[in-house]
Amino acid sequence: MKIAVIGAGNVGAMVAGRVVDAGLADVVLIDIAPGLAKGKALDISDSRPITGSLSKIEGSEDLKATQGAGIVVVTAGLARKPGMSRDDLLRKNSEIIKDVSGKIKRYSPSAIVIVVTNPLDAMTYLAMKTTGFEPARVIGMAGVLDSARFMNAVSPDIAVTQDEKVFMMGSHGDTMVAINRSDGLDDKIFKQGAERARNRGAEIVGHLKTGSAYFAPSAAVFYMLKAILKNENRTVCCSAYLQGEYGEKDIYIGVPVVLGSSGVVRIIEIEFTEQEKKAFKKSVSQIHETIAKI
Ligand code: APR
Repeated sequence: MKIAVIGAGNVGAMVAGRVVDAGLADVVLIDIAPGLAKGKALDISDSRPITGSLSKIEGSEDLKATQGAGIVVVTAGLARKPGMSRDDLLRKNSEIIKDVSGKIKRYSPSAIVIVVTNPLDAMTYLAMKTTGFEPARVIGMAGVLDSARFMNAVSPDIAVTQDEKVFMMGSHGDTMVAINRSDGLDDKIFKQGAERARNRGAEIVGHLKTGSAYFAPSAAVFYMLKAILKNENRTVCCSAYLQGEYGEKDIYIGVPVVLGSSGVVRIIEIEFTEQEKKAFKKSVSQIHETIAKI
């Protein structure tokens, strides 16, 4: 199985490195910036005699090199620069996603696509519409990351994995919806943890000054890749396409799904409290507003 990673910036290169280090699959790394993907691919490749991985990696500027990939991870995009409005960023990243999605359709018509580019839910929607792939094969990475941030905030001393009891749904943004189904998690800690998780991306950017988070985001993509490649049928929070689930239609939004070799095997509908229902509705409206602009 060949995995294509489009965008060899922080997140893309780290995803490629994790996949090759673990020997999960062969990788083709792509970036529009001359030499960037080639150079990083060579560097990642050199770690194979150290890690003992047999996975191969190549870099290119041309998406043609991704031909026949089984999974395509899209991290291509711009980060918001000073003076750039959210709408400017939306326009720019929409152009990139349209261009890249058209090429994915041409070169890897059977691929499963994982979108990472922000604004996540709208960009995943655009990738699905542009490729014309069935929605189960186009998935956004956000919930795994947001849920991990949430879990890390509420129980930093416990090595928890995605345990399906404390997780994040809704949009990958200010209106994400914190869900608590664990017994014994103090309400105050729950609320503080949710707030911390919601602001974590900005907190990290504040420290870094340039660039944004990529260690946990790439770990989240790796987690999804493994679930798909190994057909784990694992419950994972992702941005998925709703067609009546949760009473919503024609939208990508963060929900728990079962992830396996065909992509989204099914969407899990959890029972909301009144408060969660309201918060989810707010998230839905926000994503519809963004989608309307593209
Ligand atoms: N084709 C291929 N690569 C592209 C294209 C394109 N059309 N347009 C931009 N790129 C590349 C850039 O050259 C850059 O190397 O995408 C890469 C993005 O990398 P970074 O700027 O380092 O961004 P990163 O931190 O990896 O985040 C990528 O994921 O989490 C989101 O908000 C984040 O949208 C951003 C994306």
